[in-house]
Parts: sequence; structure tokens; C-alpha cells
Amino acid sequence: MNNETINFQDPGDTYQALIDGNKAFVDAQLAADPDFFHKLSKGQSPQVLWIGCSDSRVPANQVTNTQPGEVFVHRNIANVCVHSDMNMLSVLDYSVNVLKVKHVIVAGHYGCGGVAAAMSSQQFGLIDNWLRHIKDVYRLHAHELDLITDHQVRADRLVELNVIEQVFNLCKTTIVQNAWKERNDLQIHGWVVDIRTGLVKDLKVSCSNTENLGKVFALDKEA
Ligand code: CO
Repeated sequence: MNNETINFQDPGDTYQALIDGNKAFVDAQLAADPDFFHKLSKGQSPQVLWIGCSDSRVPANQVTNTQPGEVFVHRNIANVCVHSDMNMLSVLDYSVNVLKVKHVIVAGHYGCGGVAAAMSSQQFGLIDNWLRHIKDVYRLHAHELDLITDHQVRADRLVELNVIEQVFNLCKTTIVQNAWKERNDLQIHGWVVDIRTGLVKDLKVSCSNTENLGKVFALDKEA
């Protein structure tokens, strides 16, 4: 039995490791820059909003090699952007209109349990209501997905299509469309993190205007 296994089985050790880890983090940051936390305490001006999956394997800062203060973060199961989700809308509004971020990145990941669950017919409980949004993505793209016989390949493609639909969902919000009327430096991007390699795949669906949204979603200037 190795140490890793012992830690996993002993909640006390796991918990203490977090306290020790924090001390090690602070020490390392201060060694690199004695003023680091003093500067952080003065405020934040991140250029990026990351909307990712809650999965523990896709942490925004580590994946992008960024520091505290550089990325504003919102995460939920399977990185879904629903226009009636006050949590997501509040994060989006604050980051776009107050922080004035220049890039919003919807970051999905291959091997996403939420997407895999949405692809099945099994009941998982409360979360089924959240996963319904991804089942809707499947329905929109069933003509393509149903032709993919390999389950893994189909799940990977649904991960990508889910990200693309969430990018469009962000573009359809009044928050993003009103910001585009005021400034031309806000872009919405779609990424997939490949947890098998750690590398990011840019899905090349970046949007900076209402083109391709369809006429009922491209809104007139704010009333
Ligand atoms: Co996931």
C-alpha cells in the first residue's frame, strides 16, 4: 500500500494536507515575489472569464498556467450556460460589465461525466434536471451524433457540441450583446481540455458579434 492510498483512506490526512498545502503555496509565492499578496489585496483586473466544468481534473489556473488574479472563474457540472441561471448570469454580468474582461472561455473536457450521463437513459437523481440541457444539445445534433457508432467518439463529439452550444447561449444573452454594442474587444471562445494529454483544443467558434445567431436571437439595441 503506497502513501497515496493511505491518504485517500484517511480523511484526517487529506484534510491536514490541505492546510500544509496552503502553507507551501504561500511560501512558494512569497519566495518568487515578496509583494505578491500585498499586490493581490489591492484588487483584481482579470482579462478572462473561465466557465468550466466542476470536475476536479480541469482547474482553470493550472490548465492555463495563470496566477491568482488573472482568471475570473465560474464552474458547474458540464459547463452549462443556461439563460435562467442567476448564478451564471451574475458572474457573466460582473465580469463583462465591471471587470471588462476581454475573453470569455467556455471550457469543456473529454471524459466529462456529466456529458456521459446525459447521453445515457439511466436516472441519476436530482442532477437529471441539470443534464436535461445537455440532452437538448444531443437532440439538436442527433442527426450527426446518431451516426457515430463508437460510444467514446460519440461522447467526445457531444462534449464539443455542448461547448459550442454554450458559447452560442452566452452570445444570446443581453449582457454580451449589449457589451458588443459598447465595445469591440469582447470575444466568446469554446475550448475542450483533453484530460488524456492536458492540452487544450480550441474549437474555433470564437464570437465577437451576433452573426450566425439567427434573427430572433440577434437583439436590437437596449430599449
Ligand atoms: Co465534466
